[in-house]
Amino acid sequence: MNTLPSWLIYCRPGFERDCVEETQAKPVETTENSGYVVLQGKPRLAYRQLAFARQLLSLHAEVSDLPERDRLTPLLAAIPVSLERFSALYLEVPDTNEGKTLSGFTRRFQPLLEEALRVQGRLADASGIHPSTGSERTDISPRLHIFFPDNQRALIATADPHNSSAALNGIQRVSMASDAPSRSYLKLAEAFEVFLDKKEQALWLKPGMTAIDLGAAPGGWTWQLVQRGLKVTAVDNGPLKGAAAGHPSIRHLREDGFRFRPQRPVDWLVCDMVEQPQRVATLMTEWFIGGYTQRAIFNLKLPMKKRVAALNDALNSIRTALNNKGIRYQLEAKQLYHDREEVTVYLARKR
Ligand SMILES: C[S@@+](CC[C@H](N)C(=O)[O-])C[C@H]1O[C@@H](n2cnc3c(N)ncnc32)[C@H](O)[C@@H]1O
Repeated sequence: MNTLPSWLIYCRPGFERDCVEETQAKPVETTENSGYVVLQGKPRLAYRQLAFARQLLSLHAEVSDLPERDRLTPLLAAIPVSLERFSALYLEVPDTNEGKTLSGFTRRFQPLLEEALRVQGRLADASGIHPSTGSERTDISPRLHIFFPDNQRALIATADPHNSSAALNGIQRVSMASDAPSRSYLKLAEAFEVFLDKKEQALWLKPGMTAIDLGAAPGGWTWQLVQRGLKVTAVDNGPLKGAAAGHPSIRHLREDGFRFRPQRPVDWLVCDMVEQPQRVATLMTEWFIGGYTQRAIFNLKLPMKKRVAALNDALNSIRTALNNKGIRYQLEAKQLYHDREEVTVYLARKR
């Protein structure tokens, strides 16, 4: 019997090979542009350490040839009995055109499967209470994820709530502000949701705090910070647009973002300059070693073929430089839903 765990990972379509490369696990199913991979051969993977994984799930079973008239019976039969209880049920599809055509079905099917699992006493109700035990198990029980690569197949998987994304399809939804100068506004909104929990957001994104935005124009990231009450110095030779132009909480400096340093330390540095990842990594390191900021969110653009290697080189250079200075830090990288050929990185100084 094969005892190696299997993993199901969701990713941006086109980044399947990057997922395989960074996990160093054995690829079992990796179809280009499918938006997911199945892997084997690693006893443990850590969601927050995987930049290209939107979701990390343990894969338990697969059903193929699902009949259109009754998908419920074969699916229920395929959920292993060893998986006793679930805190929630997620029905999911790949982030592809085919996946989008299935989302109507998953919405209709969700209440049917939920009801069947509740009758079996295996699914917590909406308040997180399990009917069989009466106890609140939201934090302990895994979530059940049923992933439909197409309308005939289903992969049955579970998520460890502490080692996965809580967002449906691994995509954190954020909303656009009608007056935002650019759609990049959404990217920084998503980054805050992905890297910081609500408590951390309340603590570290307080009105009156200060931020520098390097490569700020036309102003989407700056606007995201201003909406959260921060005072922003926006550094860019280009113009800020729309509501960001001339806003009292924004100081716009037409300077080189690689040379600029603030006179006083700030709470946040954000940086979206289109440059070599290594050059941006070096700049971030200099800011942290110089004590200019406590936290940073920055983009590393990865237009090259060897994306994983370029990313690892950039992240490792930050680790080495900060370790050498004895600086304690948290460093995480994720390809967000709003990231194309790039990843977003969170770096914070730890006490
Ligand atoms: C991807 S855009 C930033 C979009 C911005 N984050 C937003 O939300 O609207 C990159 C910006 O970096 C700026 N940039 C590139 N190199 C720069 C440098 N050396 N100094 C300052 N700005 C730079 C460009 O002028 C451009 O406006």
